[in-house]
Amino acid sequence: MTDRAALLAALDWQIELGATEAIGDAPVDRYALATTPAAAAAAPVPPAAPHPAEPAAPPAAPADNVAEARAIADAAADLPALRDALARFDRCDLKQGARNLVFADGDPAAALMILGEAPGRDEDLQGKPFVGRAGQLLDRMLAAIGRDRHADDPARGVYITNVLPWRPPQNRDPKPEEIAMLRPFVDRHIALVDPAVLVLMGNHACAAMLGRRGITRLRGQWAQAAGRPALPMFHPAYLLRNPAAKREAWADLLALQARLGP
Ligand code: URA
Repeated sequence: MTDRAALLAALDWQIELGATEAIGDAPVDRYALATTPAAAAAAPVPPAAPHPAEPAAPPAAPADNVAEARAIADAAADLPALRDALARFDRCDLKQGARNLVFADGDPAAALMILGEAPGRDEDLQGKPFVGRAGQLLDRMLAAIGRDRHADDPARGVYITNVLPWRPPQNRDPKPEEIAMLRPFVDRHIALVDPAVLVLMGNHACAAMLGRRGITRLRGQWAQAAGRPALPMFHPAYLLRNPAAKREAWADLLALQARLGP
C-alpha cells in the first residue's frame, strides 16, 4: 500500500469509529509550539519591524470591519447577492474554521422570520440552520402553531436564519465583536426578507438585535427590532436542557400565533 492509501485507510477507519472532527482531547497552543527551537526554525520569518521613524500599521480596527461589512451588505440588492457577499466576506475568522456558510432556510415570502444564534455541528455540515436536535424541536414548536419551513404556502411558511453564518469553534458563544461585525448582514437580511414579525431565539439574538441579554426576563415581551415587532423566546437548545421552560415557550408561541393571525 502506498503512504497515501495507508493514510486514507487510517482516516476511513477513524471516521467509522465516529471521529468526524479533527480535534484533540486537550487544546494545543500552536503559538507556544512555534516558540520551540524546532518549530521556530521552520516558522515563517515575521515581517521586519517598522523603522522607528515609520508609524506602525494600525491593527485592523473592528470599526473598519463593521464599516466594510455595512457597505458590502447594503450593496446587496437581493438575497442571492447577500448570500454571495457573505460568502466572499473574509474579515471574520469564524469562516476559516467552518465547513459551510449557513445562510438561511425556509420561505423568504413568509410573514415570520426566526433569528437564531449560530450554526452548530449539524448545521455546519449541512449548510442549513436549525437542522440538529434543537432544530427538530424548533420544527415541532412551529408545527404546533401551523408553521412549517417547507410549506409551499407563505401563509404557513417561516424563514430561518442566524446572527452568525459560520459555526464558532467547539460551539462556543459568539463574541460581541463577531456579532457587531456580522450585524450589518443580519440587518440587510431582515430588510430584504421584510417579515411582519421577528422571533429572537435566545440571548445572543437578543444581544444582537436589542442590545440586551437576560432571556428569562425578555422572553414573551414584545419589542421592536429592525423596525418591526420582535418576540424574544427561549432557544430550543435551552428547552432541551430545561424541559420545564416549555410551558413559557408554549405561552410565547400562542402570543406569536395571535400576532400573526390565522
Ligand atoms: N442553534 C442556533 O441558534 N442556530 C442553529 O442554526 C442551530 C442551533
